[in-house]
Amino acid sequence: MSLTFKDIFKEIKKYKKELLLANLVALFAVIISTPVPLLMPLLVDEILLKKPGIIVNSLNSIFTSTHEPYFYVFIILFSVLALRTLFFILNFYQTKLFTIISKNVTYKIRQELLSHISKVSLKDFEFVGTGSITSKLLIDVDTLDDFLGSAISRFVISSLTIIGVGFVLLMIHWQLALFILILNPFVVMLTTKIARKVSKLKKEQNRAYEIFSESLSEALELFTQIKSLNREKKFFSKVIKDAKNMRDNSIKFGYKSDGASRFSFLVFLSGFEVFRAASILVVAYSDLTIGLMLAIFSYLWVMMSPIQEILNIQYAYHNAQISLRRINKIFALHVEEELQKPINPFVDNSTNKITIKNLSFSYDDRKNILKSIDMEIEKGKKIAIIGASGSGKTTLAHLLVGLYPLQEGDILFDDISSKDIGLSLIRENIFLVLQSPQLFNDTIAKNLTFGATVSKEELDFAINIAQLREFIDSLEEGLDTQIGRDGVKLSGGQRQRISIARMVLKNPNIVILDESTSALDVHTELKLFEGLESYLKDKTTIIIAHRLSTIRNADYIYVLEDGVISEEGSSKELLEQEGLFHDYIKGYP
Ligand SMILES: Nc1ncnc2c1ncn2[C@@H]1O[C@H](COP(=O)(O)OP(=O)(O)OP(=O)(O)O)[C@@H](O)[C@H]1O
Ligand SMILES: [Mg+2]
Repeated sequence: MSLTFKDIFKEIKKYKKELLLANLVALFAVIISTPVPLLMPLLVDEILLKKPGIIVNSLNSIFTSTHEPYFYVFIILFSVLALRTLFFILNFYQTKLFTIISKNVTYKIRQELLSHISKVSLKDFEFVGTGSITSKLLIDVDTLDDFLGSAISRFVISSLTIIGVGFVLLMIHWQLALFILILNPFVVMLTTKIARKVSKLKKEQNRAYEIFSESLSEALELFTQIKSLNREKKFFSKVIKDAKNMRDNSIKFGYKSDGASRFSFLVFLSGFEVFRAASILVVAYSDLTIGLMLAIFSYLWVMMSPIQEILNIQYAYHNAQISLRRINKIFALHVEEELQKPINPFVDNSTNKITIKNLSFSYDDRKNILKSIDMEIEKGKKIAIIGASGSGKTTLAHLLVGLYPLQEGDILFDDISSKDIGLSLIRENIFLVLQSPQLFNDTIAKNLTFGATVSKEELDFAINIAQLREFIDSLEEGLDTQIGRDGVKLSGGQRQRISIARMVLKNPNIVILDESTSALDVHTELKLFEGLESYLKDKTTIIIAHRLSTIRNADYIYVLEDGVISEEGSSKELLEQEGLFHDYIKGYP
């Protein structure tokens, strides 16, 4: 999926009513504003040079007599001011309508980006930094918004103004008008060239911004760790270096883009002086009146801002193109496939059998982390997986709960391939209790329930099993205690117990405990497992652990070594082999 300008304009077209109204308003605004510059200069001819024309004659016929000069001047002044005010009001209203459209369209883009991100597969997500996603959602969508705002609102009124003014100029003196109208596009072309250059700088500037926001958010997220390692100087000097890089890029972009727009203004002013000189020559050598010459001078000014605006639309367009490309990098992230007709082996069963067949997996398509794993876990059995750090235990757990799509081999639940079940059903029914679960900056209750409604009994049941009762009761605000950003106010063991309680509340068919109790003292862990034992009695359970006490009760043990199952057998059998688990298991003789 990728977003194009065509899609965006299709979206804009959905606002038919507003667009039509806004365009009508714009048209009306131009109609009333176009004659304005003509009125005052005509008085020069008609009053000062005493050559009564259309204005004096029509006023005389309305008021049936001739008057002093001030009479005509005041009436025209009043009309001009009224017209200008009306123009302002119409313009204001028009901008309002167009702003509503463009903001709605950019909101829609943000909405679609966010919904896409929510579906992105973990594998793709891990390769993009959160800083880079944030900057795309903020800066790049804003850049797009700048373009849409100026393009759809200013473009209509600016082009209409240029057409209106062109028309009046042709009426006044067609040769001079042609001269002006033909030369103007060259001014436009010259400045467009400069716009392209500026957009390149803009790209570098956005990139520098992204790098900065990435290293800043990393430094802030890891603040505690960085401080405890006494590395704040090193980390923050990197952030400062990135800020410096951003500064250098901004300086380049800032002054060069300013220089470019001033240069285009210089080009315009030069044209303006040429046109003025030409007009004076036309007065000197033909019948153009001084009043009309002054009118042409005013029209040159009137034409200036729409031309500038159309130029700005070009700048905005170049920037928007770059931003669109960056935004499409998010849309290019792969989304997890959703099955048309998923088979659900979980719904009528309280637990399931797991079969792993010839499973291999690699994060980067180069090094295989898991190699041809085979396992068969009967319904309701407890198995343990042990092995050295980095041997692939957590990776296997991640695959079992459907965090990553399978590559080679298969995992089956009740003999149904997980490819036919779909990752989202798997995640819904298999719970992985993590060693250090992620927590939100909210209350303990919210962290336990994830916002779902649960009864008080269910909550109490989970809290009791997870051995959290004493801890929660000791808190002044109990379950309503705020736990801070990522649960900083909780100890490692408390976090793990929250994770266990979450699992109990979710009541999944299959439970995987990945060193979920490693931070607990032996006494609490024992109590926790006593509580869990009856809860997990009928649930297929996989325990990954380094402690003998944790795995002793398992029915069967697998030993993982460098992604391969090197040993397996009933726990009784294996635990009796002296010295076998010396390297992995604490408390093993
Ligand atoms: N998201 C990831 N992207 C790339 N490589 C990864 C990722 N997660 C883990 N790995 C790599 O896969 C290998 C196995 O890691 P894994 O976390 O499965 O080990 P583990 O057996 O759980 O270790 P431990 O006992 O320390 O928890 C390691 O070499 C690790 O570097
Ligand atoms: Mg692990």
